Amino acid sequence: MTADPHTNLALLAWQIELGADEAMLDEPVDCFTLPKRTPWRIGPGAQPATERPPPAGTAPAPAPQALPQVDPVAEARRAAGQARDLAGLEAAIAAFPHCDLKLGARNTVFADGNPAARVMVIGEAPGKEEDIRGKPFVGRAGQLLDRMFAAIGLSRDAELPESALYITNIVNWRPPQNRDPKPEEIAVMLPFVEAHVRLAAPDLLVLMGNSACQGVLGRRGITRLRGTWTEAFGLPVLPMFHPAFLLRNPAAKREAWADLLSLKARLGGGA
Ligand code: URA
Repeated sequence: MTADPHTNLALLAWQIELGADEAMLDEPVDCFTLPKRTPWRIGPGAQPATERPPPAGTAPAPAPQALPQVDPVAEARRAAGQARDLAGLEAAIAAFPHCDLKLGARNTVFADGNPAARVMVIGEAPGKEEDIRGKPFVGRAGQLLDRMFAAIGLSRDAELPESALYITNIVNWRPPQNRDPKPEEIAVMLPFVEAHVRLAAPDLLVLMGNSACQGVLGRRGITRLRGTWTEAFGLPVLPMFHPAFLLRNPAAKREAWADLLSLKARLGGGA
């Protein structure tokens, strides 16, 4: 910090530009004054180029142990398959160590709404607000989502299954700087999504945006996919535009409204 507020503002703007958009600690830390520590060893046998031999008279550091190779998708399938209820699944996801998105997130964002709902919504990934509060769709896009579903009589706060919503995402941790989740991140978390649908047992699914379609249907191209009912996990599935897309492209709300009416008609007909 300097005494000049304009310089301070410019410094802040520069940090935000670099992606440092949140305070991690209460006090600033000058990393240049911290004692040097051994660089992190990433993966089996990886040696930092800067590593020096130990000083004379000290025992040599033990040879790095080869880390067991794991198949993260197989691990996810195993963990998800063991979950007997939603609380167990939430705990299994929170304990799952094989998705790097977890490293940069504050909270595991599992679900919100009524698990007894007939309609289960699958979105993309938590954003900043969701990461802080540990709940899906609580930022601006979430407020639009609530208004959209309220227009056809559905709400995450409703007690009756026929007017309720149950909401989750295709990945449970916020990607850095709100980038899209990568296909491999979606693939790792998919067994958990499948278990989530099995345990919540809704009558139908709504997929919001490309990432949800990529995971559940194995296809992207939401402009073509939206509005056409298909099937996944043995359930009817409706792809729709993501509310964040609708905030940027209000003209597409017309199609979103048509999709909501199609959902309402399907529910009216017993899904
Ligand atoms: N967008 C999503 O897809 N999910 C959220 O939880 C928030 C924003």
